[in-house]
Amino acid sequence: MKITGNSRRLGQSALEVGPIAYGLWRFVGNDVKAARTRIETALDAGMTLIDVAAVYGLDWGGNAFGESETLLGKVLADAPEFRRKMVLATKFGIIPGVPYDSGAAAVTRSCEESLTRLQTDTIDLFQVHRPDVLTHPSELAEALTRLKAQGKIREVGVSNYNARQTLLLQQFLSFPLATLQPEFSALNLEAAFDGVLDFAISRHMTPLAWSPLAGGKLADGVSPAEPAARRVASKLDDLARQHGTTRVAVALAFVMRHPAGAIPIMGTQSTARIAAANDALRVNLSRADWYALVVAARGEPLP
Ligand SMILES: NC(=O)c1ccc[n+]([C@@H]2O[C@H](COP(=O)([O-])OP(=O)(O)OC[C@H]3O[C@@H](n4cnc5c(N)ncnc54)[C@H](OP(=O)(O)O)[C@@H]3O)[C@@H](O)[C@H]2O)c1
Repeated sequence: MKITGNSRRLGQSALEVGPIAYGLWRFVGNDVKAARTRIETALDAGMTLIDVAAVYGLDWGGNAFGESETLLGKVLADAPEFRRKMVLATKFGIIPGVPYDSGAAAVTRSCEESLTRLQTDTIDLFQVHRPDVLTHPSELAEALTRLKAQGKIREVGVSNYNARQTLLLQQFLSFPLATLQPEFSALNLEAAFDGVLDFAISRHMTPLAWSPLAGGKLADGVSPAEPAARRVASKLDDLARQHGTTRVAVALAFVMRHPAGAIPIMGTQSTARIAAANDALRVNLSRADWYALVVAARGEPLP
């Protein structure tokens, strides 16, 4: 099902994307044909924000730093029309063995390398992957401002930043940060209670929620080992029965129900599951449904 008339603006930027995004953390290997089919399925389903990172390929399933960007670059070379249909988001700043460097030289180098691997001229959304507390935010801000002025990046976001760190970087930028990217799911609720989603509202930033199915623990048919995940999966199943849908659709609807307007980033490699994600858009969770999932995750009643 294609999504029309349901697009979201990224923060205060001019970038418009579908209500669910597609993430490439698990997008590895050399099978360009299969990779192309996944991207095409996502774009056809209206998942027009494609989220990758320089480090992807090394930390999950693949063999090399940059592997996921390289694979996406091959897809874009094969199907250049996909580039125009997507908002291309990547991340920089995780360097295995360091492990974080957001200094000016590292940021500039990472941007050039990502552009080469992605076989594109510009990155639509360039995100700091994790905070590097050893870089002064003014240095990072200057480097990002230069890349934006050069047209190598269009917008900037942060990932795994808390509200204070986001505000600090914003203070040194003359343009607004478009997005922040916390982990957020019915199992991992922190962003809703630690001020990150509140901060997004206060600054008109769009939250991108990573691992909205808790990395697969909340996926259909999975019997998670940890008690909290078991409780949440069971509550999701109850709600799925009531709403006539799947556990995955309710889990994604949970993320989208928050007033910050979070966009869940799905990570499945299955084209059937990519195409099914839009079932979530038909699920209207009540206030009581939403809080019942919070109670399930916490394992105790709310005060
Ligand atoms: N900023 C950060 O630090 C950070 C960290 C982690 C992730 N991310 C972003 O978030 C994206 C998503 O993360 P994730 O892959 O952990 O997300 P997820 O959507 O929570 O989990 C995806 C996993 O669930 C499995 N799954 C099983 N049944 C499924 C179903 N019916 N529908 C959908 N998935 C099902 C998938 O396996 P199959 O492939 O077999 O379906 C896959 O292994 C990443 O690609 C990345 O863009 C960002």
